[in-house]
Amino acid sequence: MDRHAHWQDVYRTKPETEVSWFQERPESSLELIQRTGVGHTAAIIDIGGGASRLVDHLLDQGFTRLTVLDIAEAALTRAQERLGERAGRVSWVAADVTQWKPGATFDLWHDRAVFHFLTDAADRRTYADTMAAALPAGGQAIVGTFAADGPEKCSGLPVCRYAAEALAAEFAPQFHLLGTLTEDHLTPAGKVQKFQFCRMIRT
Ligand SMILES: C[S@@+](CC[C@H](N)C(=O)[O-])C[C@H]1O[C@@H](n2cnc3c(N)ncnc32)[C@H](O)[C@@H]1O
Repeated sequence: MDRHAHWQDVYRTKPETEVSWFQERPESSLELIQRTGVGHTAAIIDIGGGASRLVDHLLDQGFTRLTVLDIAEAALTRAQERLGERAGRVSWVAADVTQWKPGATFDLWHDRAVFHFLTDAADRRTYADTMAAALPAGGQAIVGTFAADGPEKCSGLPVCRYAAEALAAEFAPQFHLLGTLTEDHLTPAGKVQKFQFCRMIRT
């Protein structure tokens, strides 16, 4: 099954609240976004945002320039249906991040649990180049993956696991590490998954 078909199938067959990565309130992401110091008019893109509730919380906080990108249209539809009329305040992009060419720049790039699926070095290079193209100097990026001692698979797919230094090294020298955060994520099934987040700045 190809990537797009895999993710379409996940979001068509599983309720949003039952996927292992579900969070009612994405605390680590919100904490790290707060640490960036970006204002409410900052352009923020959530890469592989899927049906995540991050966008709901950012709208609640007053952010006005939000974009959610995902490979699965079905995921975006889930989020749009949940948001109702508020969905009109968000830009939605259905695309594979490894093939997408940003048509604009952003102040902040956020990715929770997407980069770790890129087990092919060429895909990781393309992703890093896209992130660099999407952020002007001073723009920040938050990337969260399974930690070095995290699970070997996510959604049934193999992942690369990272310690903070190794994750930041994937984006050097265009990005410089500003800070890190680790999280023990409790899945809806009650399992703990160790996450590693890095916050970086475009040099
Ligand atoms: C594990 S889920 C995480 C979803 C969301 N970031 C969250 O934290 O709830 C991975 C998400 O990345 C999306 N995805 C996977 N590969 C992708 C790619 N190459 N380009 C864009 N999105 C992708 C999937 O459709 C899915 O929504």
